[in-house]
Amino acid sequence: MAKITTSTLIKMKQQGEKISTITAYDASFAKLFDQAGIHAILIGDSLGMVLQGQDDTLPVTIDDMAYHTQSVRRGVENTLIIGDMPFMSYATKEQAFINAAKLMQAGANIVKMEGGSWLIDTIKGLVERGIPVCGHLGLTPQSVNVFGGFKVQGRQEQQALEIIEQAKQLEQAGIQLLVLECVPAELGKRITEAVSVPTIGIGAGKDTDGQILVMHDALGISCSYMPKFSRNFLKDTGDIKKAIELYISEVSHGHFPADEHIFK
Ligand code: KIV
Repeated sequence: MAKITTSTLIKMKQQGEKISTITAYDASFAKLFDQAGIHAILIGDSLGMVLQGQDDTLPVTIDDMAYHTQSVRRGVENTLIIGDMPFMSYATKEQAFINAAKLMQAGANIVKMEGGSWLIDTIKGLVERGIPVCGHLGLTPQSVNVFGGFKVQGRQEQQALEIIEQAKQLEQAGIQLLVLECVPAELGKRITEAVSVPTIGIGAGKDTDGQILVMHDALGISCSYMPKFSRNFLKDTGDIKKAIELYISEVSHGHFPADEHIFK
């Protein structure tokens, strides 16, 4: 398999091919996922919850993220690596420049940040300085305390329109990928049609350009519970590599997510 870049993913969107993405935090899993043919790996700040056992992602630091990004980089040959900017590491433009550079130097190909219009200048500045950016809209877990819990976003039409507008603004600012988390399936579709960058959904329906899952959910080993939008692929296969191959195949054939994984 050839090295996957953001251009590969944009081409996949244009050709209607589905993109499969998963989180990983260490070299061994990253190598297995890379060999299974996953298109992109996110070193998510979800590591605060699934590795560290925290209640949310807020305690995760940029040093935690850089450490795990370096580990994943050592396991990967072809897969695109997305580094996640943790809580308050991009509160100002200057902080974003310094901290995004740390993730790129640790081995990321692109950095992800949660938020809408307030990030426009930061994104422009990063792209001008050679750092590609992945946006993240909908349920942005770093704002869990503002949302009052991990809740589906965009169910009211006014809020849906705001999220669509923010997606367009992020695209204009220069993002090359967009994660959509926990929005109604219909909104996932509307945003995907409204932007030319690939959308990667988690609980955002089947019409996004790709899907992402937290690896612990996809393998049924999350310490807490199985979210509605996830599926235990290990249960169906009994082998981790086969589980990820099944995930990729189910995404590419449009069988995952199924109706039971979708928010209305
Ligand atoms: O941190 C993470 O794993 C994420 C995904 C849920 C998209 O942001």
